[in-house]
Amino acid sequence: MPHIEIRQLTKKYINRRKMNRNDGHKETIGETITVLKNIDVSIETGEMVCFLGPSGCGKSTMLRIIAGFEPASSGQVLINGRTQKKPGADTIFVFQHNGLLPWLSVRENIGLGLRHMTNKKQRDEILIEHIEMVELEGFENHFPGQLSGGMQRRAELARALVVNPEILIMDEPFSGLDFLTHMKMREEVVNMHQFIRKTTLMVTHDINDALIMGDRIVIIGGSPSEVILEKKLDFEHPRNFESNPELGKLRDELFLMMGVSYAV
Ligand SMILES: Nc1ncnc2c1ncn2[C@@H]1O[C@H](COP(=O)(O)OP(=O)(O)O)[C@@H](O)[C@H]1O
Ligand SMILES: [Mg+2]
Repeated sequence: MPHIEIRQLTKKYINRRKMNRNDGHKETIGETITVLKNIDVSIETGEMVCFLGPSGCGKSTMLRIIAGFEPASSGQVLINGRTQKKPGADTIFVFQHNGLLPWLSVRENIGLGLRHMTNKKQRDEILIEHIEMVELEGFENHFPGQLSGGMQRRAELARALVVNPEILIMDEPFSGLDFLTHMKMREEVVNMHQFIRKTTLMVTHDINDALIMGDRIVIIGGSPSEVILEKKLDFEHPRNFESNPELGKLRDELFLMMGVSYAV
């Protein structure tokens, strides 16, 4: 059984606008916009699937529906064969940046997900393990404002992993990072996934990230957005476009598909 099954997922929004009528009164009109149409994707346990698509194509909307924050207009999302009643942090954790609480230290922020644990020794062990995993030893007592962007992002990642959710969801996790920090974070997320093999869904508009990271890519697009292409990426990690011509060729094809003929 797939871990996550997205079946015929469709999402429509009604855009309400006020219009001036001829008699001087205002009238509210509703215009229905279909953002996602009949999305079908199955995700296996432990798989990292990268959803790729241009800005505004409905990626964040799709993640919010999978996480249970928003209802679908039609279709369904099954987790372990069942529909989710309500979002639960132990099942799905949505990694979002700027998710750290500024008045708590790194240690307290990461420990938030463990606050229900009564065994203090065990709790501390899990905390230390995760602080080490994201290489933040020595910064436990710093506040988020005292960290660089990359360190904040690593603390956020630890905060998600400490909960040990079944599914990790990441929405454009590297946005706003400088180039080198982006590369480093990407490498860390790949290593982390290789190590813990948690079912991970990432959305991005970055073709390079999707190809370097994913076990599979799913491209969505069009208006409304549908699945345009699904492809399994059987390439060893660490991946590199220069030393892997096949991966480079695939990248050129994807750039072309997304309307760019000269990829840098
Ligand atoms: N709550 C909402 N009400 C109306 N329209 C929305 C709402 N949320 C998103 N949309 C529209 O859905 C489309 C997709 O948005 P989004 O999922 O944020 O795209 P992406 O994450 O791919 O950039 C956009 O056109 C956006 O305006
Ligand atoms: Mg988005």
